[in-house]
Parts: sequence; structure tokens; C-alpha cells
Amino acid sequence: MKETIVIKCGGSVLSELSPSFFESLQLYAQKKKIIIVHGGGPEIGQMLTKLCVPTEFVDGLRKTTKDVLEVAEMILAGKVNKQLVGILQQYGLPAVGVSGVDAHLLEAAAIDFHTLGYVGEVKNVNCAFLEMLLRDGYIPVIAPLGADESGQTYNINADTVAGAVAKALNAQQLLFVTDVPGILQDGVVVEQTTVDDIERMIAAGVITGGMIPKVKAAVAALSEKLGEVMIVSGKTPFYTNGKLYGTSIRKEVGVY
Ligand SMILES: Nc1ncnc2c1ncn2[C@@H]1O[C@H](COP(=O)(O)OP(=O)(O)OP(=O)(O)O)[C@@H](O)[C@H]1O
Ligand SMILES: [Mg+2]
Repeated sequence: MKETIVIKCGGSVLSELSPSFFESLQLYAQKKKIIIVHGGGPEIGQMLTKLCVPTEFVDGLRKTTKDVLEVAEMILAGKVNKQLVGILQQYGLPAVGVSGVDAHLLEAAAIDFHTLGYVGEVKNVNCAFLEMLLRDGYIPVIAPLGADESGQTYNINADTVAGAVAKALNAQQLLFVTDVPGILQDGVVVEQTTVDDIERMIAAGVITGGMIPKVKAAVAALSEKLGEVMIVSGKTPFYTNGKLYGTSIRKEVGVY
């Protein structure tokens, strides 16, 4: 049976993804089932600025008012999702774009409405829907939005979505593709790290901003099936000679 890999493409790097990234995907697609989750942080930020909608971040998460939510939906499900699907199709990859709202893919609830507004956490993933697409050979491309039972939509951090989808599907691999070559400490890539190290790096202020939800999602997704999560750069080739280059996150040192 083909292994399942969840790849999160950061909004931070979408416009800069190199041809080698898509060529790696073509190779992966021959032997793995691929699910892509994308972000859209910078594009949402630019549109909010254009529309003069105020915005602020709390621990790397964008506080989401009704106005911010509307823009996030337009950019994520409308613009970014369709652009990415278009590029994947140019590389011959059978991509299908969906948002987490479609087919109740991501059931969501507010994390903390008072501090974050309509920022959601994932309560349930419709695995049957994803498995149906995968069975038919499609690559689902997920925009990180969700809805609750009443139909209220939420903006969900894309790292959180990727982690939740990987866990729900029992994926064997989870890859965060971003605009930095991994977790950096004093400007140097940390090649291997553990759950304890990560807590220390957050407490020490080494890991800040958008890296916080990323490492938290990685830690939450680790399981017996998923022993390692990687953070890699989408700007440079990260896969050479069967090896991934970036930061490897495991539960403990040497645990496979
Ligand atoms: N220790 C660290 N090492 C590397 N990057 C860090 C660190 N601490 C904070 N960061 C920041 O985290 C950023 C990556 O997260 P960010 O949310 O901006 O991008 P993304 O998740 O790839 O994109 P999007 O949120 O749009 O999906 C880096 O560009 C960097 O500014
Ligand atoms: Mg991010």
C-alpha cells in the first residue's frame, strides 16, 4: 500500500516555490498518496492593508474579526487555493482544491473567541472524503478554513490543519515547507530536535511568531505511526539522494 504524506506549503513561500519542489512532488506522487495544505499569511496581510482592515498577531496566530475572516476566506479559498492547483496541474499533478468547509472536511470551533476571534481549532476531519479522492488518484489541496455545526466559518492556521489531517489519516510523513531552512538558532539550522527542546526554545524566545504554531502542530502530530516531522525550505532543493534537509522533530532523541 502507498504511504500517505501530508505536505504543508507555507503562504510565506508559495510564490517562490522552485521547479525542483514540483519535481520532487512528481517523484513522490509515483510512490505516495499526497495531501497538500497551504497557508496564505502574506497574501492575507497584503489584502488587509489594501482594504485598511486592522490586524494583529497573538503567538503567531492572526486575530480574526468578521472583516479579517471575510478577507481570509477570499484569499485562501479563492485566490491561493486555485493558483496552487493551477501550478500543480501544469506539472501534470492531479490536484483538487477544496477548503475545509467543503464536505465538512474540517469541523472547527473557536480556540478562544475573546483573544483570537474566529480562529479555529480542528474538532474533526472527514477522512472518508479525503480517502475517496486519494483512492481515485487525486491530490487534495486544502485551504485552511473550517466550519462549526451552525455553519459559522473559522480561519485555521494551516500548520494546525496539516498536523490534524496527518494525525486523522494516520499519515506516515508530515512535511512543513516554509521560507526558512528549518528551526534556526543563532542563525544556524537545528538539524534534529525533540519535544522538550522545542518547549525550551519557545520559552527562551528562540522560536517566535509563525514558527510557534508550526512546531506545536508538529509535536501534536507525532505518534507511533508518525515518528518524525520535518521542517524544510521551499526556496531551495530539500530532497537529495533520498535525504530531506531541514529540521527533524522527534519525540525523543534516537526514538524511531
Ligand atoms: N527559531 C526560528 N527559526 C526559523 N524561523 C523562525 C524562528 N522563530 C520565528 N521564525 C519565523 O517563522 C517564520 C515561518 O512561519 P510563517 O508563519 O511566517 O510562515 P509559513 O507558516 O511558512 O507561512 P503561512 O503562515 O502563510 O502558511 C519564519 O519566516 C521566521 O520569521
Ligand atoms: Mg505560518
